[in-house]
Amino acid sequence: MAKADQRFGQRDGSDQNFDYMFKLLIIGNSSVGKTSFLFRYADDSFSNSFVSTVGIDFKVKTVYRNDKRIKLQIWDTAGQERYRTITTAYYRGAMGFILMYDITNEESFNAVQDWATQIKTYSWDNAQVIMVGNKCDMEEERIVPLEKGKHLADQLGFEYYEASAKENINVRQVFERLVDIICVKMSERVDVEAPAAPGTKTTRLTDKPAQLPQKCC
Ligand code: GTP
Ligand code: MG
Repeated sequence: MAKADQRFGQRDGSDQNFDYMFKLLIIGNSSVGKTSFLFRYADDSFSNSFVSTVGIDFKVKTVYRNDKRIKLQIWDTAGQERYRTITTAYYRGAMGFILMYDITNEESFNAVQDWATQIKTYSWDNAQVIMVGNKCDMEEERIVPLEKGKHLADQLGFEYYEASAKENINVRQVFERLVDIICVKMSERVDVEAPAAPGTKTTRLTDKPAQLPQKCC
């Protein structure tokens, strides 16, 4: 067995050996491409057929940051209104959200504000959000201009990306950026909530030695 595997155990979804677990949620109107976005990231696959998600589903993916093994538990929520009670129950404890709309669908863009309110209502104050305008491969059918998306994201205080699950544009980048901003937020919170006693060292996620508590969050 390779040295890394001895240290970390099996590299499958049931693996309990990780430094951190981040729970992420993908939200937005039905058909904006949430499931497709997750499948592209987790499995590098895409299908043109539309099978609307029933309730909620999740996938697991492990990423590495500063020598730390971070297990991402990514929840793919149903956009349909009738599942709202189920899906909002999962907001609590989520450290990051991908709030998605479809650049060819004005209604999905107009709903972004409501989705942001749902995050505020049901999630932790410290949850980080990235807003994504998906289907940017469909430039000819674009209804929502890039600037309009950016402007709304600015107003809401979210980072903004346009992406395409179909053409694999900015998919990995969105997840990686979300992980990075969660890491930064965690480091700030460790500093604020556990001020170092004189002569002791303040722990940051960016520190090299693995001195962080296991499986926090
Ligand atoms: P719900 O599960 O109902 O909430 O919908 P969803 O947001 O999960 O949408 P889904 O991923 O199922 O995608 C809806 C449709 O859009 C499918 O037919 C996909 O093939 C298509 N689609 C998703 N992403 C893209 C994209 O980036 N570009 C294009 N052209 N089509 C996409
Ligand atoms: Mg879906």
